[in-house]
Amino acid sequence: MKNIIIANWKMNNSFDEAESWLESFNEKISNEENLPDIVVCPPAILIDYMDELLLNSELEALENKGNNIDELEEKEIEKLAAKIRKVQIGGQDCHAQINGAFTGDISAKTLKDAGCNYVILGHSERRQYHFESDETVNAKVKTALENNLMPILCIGESLEIREENKYLDFIKKQIDGSIPQNIEIENLIIAYEPIWSIGTGKIPSIAQIDEMANFIKDEVEKNKNIKVKNSKILYGGSTNSKNAKEIMAVKNISGMLVGGASLKADEFSQMAKLSF
Ligand code: PGA
Repeated sequence: MKNIIIANWKMNNSFDEAESWLESFNEKISNEENLPDIVVCPPAILIDYMDELLLNSELEALENKGNNIDELEEKEIEKLAAKIRKVQIGGQDCHAQINGAFTGDISAKTLKDAGCNYVILGHSERRQYHFESDETVNAKVKTALENNLMPILCIGESLEIREENKYLDFIKKQIDGSIPQNIEIENLIIAYEPIWSIGTGKIPSIAQIDEMANFIKDEVEKNKNIKVKNSKILYGGSTNSKNAKEIMAVKNISGMLVGGASLKADEFSQMAKLSF
């Protein structure tokens, strides 16, 4: 299975900044053969715009390769473009319902329509500022799957829980509570993000990341009611181009969820190359 690197822009970047980021990022990876899957999760309002920018550059590339776009049907063009797409787009959250009276919320169905294939769910900032429980996250994961979005499920303990040495129990509870049970799940991405490491510049030791990746893998396999066929475990929290290589070398780590460092196209492109 291919590794994956995911940019979580959070509430950052304007339309102009998103455009120059994409231009610069594309330039930096254009000649690179060995890339992991790459996903960018911008603020929701930028999704459709970024999808269009990506499509335009793909059409240009197809034309440069001698395809006569004007003669093709729209569906066919989209298929060809999707084949050469190097950057996928994801949402940062979705609601558990696909429509209804939920002011300010975002539907998984609309994310999919706008060009997303992924959605981050249960990020600690959503759990903290929007009071999302495991139960809420669980319902969102189910809805995302039903709408053909790959959930990027975030879990992770606070510093207090780590220091009290209760982190394994806490993570087990998050896994059991946030992953829908007794339904077949083909693919799931689980991002381990210790809260004390997000945006702080502090990262766990490699031994600690290794311990958590093994623990999460075992727990997903051990719980008979969790029927996930393929899972990828990612690390997130203060990753950058300097620590990426070491983190990616951890046995059960298949990628990274990147916050701050993903805002710089150059830095993120270096991290992508190191994540292959
Ligand atoms: P950070 O954020 O890389 O800025 O620590 C990671 C995240 O919140 O996903």
